[in-house]
Amino acid sequence: MRAIVLLFAAILLFACTPELNVEQPSLIPIPQQVEWKDGAFLLDSKVPLSFDTLFANEAEFLKAMVSESMQFSPVVGSFPKAMIAMTYNESLGAEEYLLKINEAGITISASDPAGMFYGVQTFRQFLPHNSGQDEILLPFVSIDDAPAFKHRGMLLDCCRHFMDPDFVKRYIDLLARFKMNVLHWHLTEDQGWRLAIDAYPDLTNVGAWRIEDSGERYGGFYTKNEVREIVAYAAERHVKVIPEIEMPGHSSAAIAAYPWLGCTGESIEVETEWGVFKDIYCAGNDSTIAFLETVLDEVMELFPSEIIHLGGDEAPKAHWEECDKCKKRIAEHGLKDAHELQSFFIQHFANYLKQHGRKAIGWDEILEGGLPEGAMVQSWRGMQGGIEAATAGRDVVMSPTSHAYFDYDVKSTDLAEVYHFQPVADSLDKEIAKHIIGGECNMWTEHAPQDKVDAKMFPRMLAMAEVLWTNQKVRNYDEFLNRVQGMYHYLDFLDVDYGPEGVPFTFESAIKNNGLEVIFNTSFQDGYLALENGVKMTSDTLFVTESFDQYIYAVRNGEKYGDSTQVSLSYHYGVGKPIVLQNGYSTYYTGGGDQALNDGVRGSFDFRDGHWQALTGNDMEIQIDLLEVQFITRLITSFYTYANAWIFMPLEVKFESSENGVDWSVLGVYRNELAEDDKRQEIVPIDLSLKGRNARYIRMTAKNRGVCPPWHDAPGEPAWLFCDELIIR
Ligand code: ACM
Ligand code: ZN
Repeated sequence: MRAIVLLFAAILLFACTPELNVEQPSLIPIPQQVEWKDGAFLLDSKVPLSFDTLFANEAEFLKAMVSESMQFSPVVGSFPKAMIAMTYNESLGAEEYLLKINEAGITISASDPAGMFYGVQTFRQFLPHNSGQDEILLPFVSIDDAPAFKHRGMLLDCCRHFMDPDFVKRYIDLLARFKMNVLHWHLTEDQGWRLAIDAYPDLTNVGAWRIEDSGERYGGFYTKNEVREIVAYAAERHVKVIPEIEMPGHSSAAIAAYPWLGCTGESIEVETEWGVFKDIYCAGNDSTIAFLETVLDEVMELFPSEIIHLGGDEAPKAHWEECDKCKKRIAEHGLKDAHELQSFFIQHFANYLKQHGRKAIGWDEILEGGLPEGAMVQSWRGMQGGIEAATAGRDVVMSPTSHAYFDYDVKSTDLAEVYHFQPVADSLDKEIAKHIIGGECNMWTEHAPQDKVDAKMFPRMLAMAEVLWTNQKVRNYDEFLNRVQGMYHYLDFLDVDYGPEGVPFTFESAIKNNGLEVIFNTSFQDGYLALENGVKMTSDTLFVTESFDQYIYAVRNGEKYGDSTQVSLSYHYGVGKPIVLQNGYSTYYTGGGDQALNDGVRGSFDFRDGHWQALTGNDMEIQIDLLEVQFITRLITSFYTYANAWIFMPLEVKFESSENGVDWSVLGVYRNELAEDDKRQEIVPIDLSLKGRNARYIRMTAKNRGVCPPWHDAPGEPAWLFCDELIIR
């Protein structure tokens, strides 16, 4: 008998001896039911492994996982006594497993290979990491576990940045280790077409490559053999690969390869900017339809997944509204408008997939103009589209920007936010809820080349994995956060270059003694803050009498923790004084509230940093009352420009002052010097030096250009004005 039964006190004793550690391991996702028991089992090379032949593949994984962890790999055999047994249990459901560790050894049972695979993954989390140990004590436990949702996915955008095939495999492996089972592979985009298609070689000869601003030719694509290898690698790990072939939008790279695919027939380049572009597939052109059918034929030949993603998001209709072929199609089919044409278009390909035994899924925009028959929906612009589709009886995948966009900084979506994601709200009707089959975290890669992906995905993916696997009622954030700490060793072992759990530090400022007292708070222990030049900050309090503008970063456990953050502060006459915002501000970009433009804290290059105040449609007109007459010599402010995000410089900015609030004089007028089609992303400072004058009231009026200009990809849509801090000296 190789089992060792210990009294409780003896366990505690062992827990203190490093080589016989029987601490309860950190399990993520936490199983639905875990019952820890007194006692421990000694696993060493003499413990044999037996398995039902149904689980031969999973037995290979178990052996590999023991040997990556320990100094041995279990010998396969059938012995009457203690062993690792992988057994068939017909009473268990799909993906369900039981894991028992007791005197008899380790028993994992399941009714299907996927369930067995997840039992093996849980067992792996009991083992040390590359320990060199030749034996380990495992605590007695009884686990009964099955997923809350059947669709547990990650979107990986390999278009904005190309990811090596080995990197894709590595992510499949990481997903599987945390019981995720879908890789949603985003393969076509404005900035690159990444999938070899035999019938249309220029999709990859031309469409896979872009010329960066630096002159570099950037790109890459996956050969069919590479795809087959990746799909097979995923299948062994019970991960389904769902390819996404975007249509009708996000198709600049395909149109760059074959200009006849678009409405205008004009040549375009593979995009180098990020955004939404108006060159989309022509929905009226039969050759374009035939092209996409051929592409889907080859896609179906490569990918066994029943579900194929057709995109459908962010497709500006400007060209369709002008195009004779598109207009003809609209007329012929009695469609109301271009939105209905999009429905018609997606419906065509949903039908095409159905005829071939597959099923289409699209982003929630496919609800506009009528949800195509038989198509599933992936909800990203909140949950409402998903709920609408589920109410219509369609299966739905939830990945709202509020919780599931891992390209977003932890400033907007931290670990806690992800963990509090509920794909199905408690109050949702059961009939509707049953159509919500799961969720995904979306790793868009505009700002994440391959080497930055880990820091965005981890540790947030651990939260998503638990959200999708473990029932809501079993989950608890504080307890999860403890297990995350226990999981970092495993992530280190897996060479995961994880990022921070949340914003590493925050700061608050208050007006004090003719200055700003700024207090920094770190979100972690065992660390400090440092200035960009590496100098450690000796105090968590800073006093700013005029201005401070530096990058600050956190150091945790001796290593840089998260990104550097620009901290830009300015103390001036206007700080904290009464302000009137004539036209209010957007609830999306409040800048922190009414006082955003005179709180002493300036917006950084990240226009979502919470300091910028913005509005759309209107001019920005603000008035600050200094409460007493001051001698003014200088006004400084900043606007943001980023056409891709629909943010434009004001056409002009007028500055005025008054001593009594009745008689006003103009101090100066700034006229925008950027060309109308300037696409740069920049903070544009305005610095007005005055001869010097007495003033109590300062007024600034910034003229909004109104709508995005004709050249823009969203012509006629409301333009944004972004401003931060009106500094009065
Ligand atoms: C999306 O993020 N455009 C689906
Ligand atoms: Zn057209």
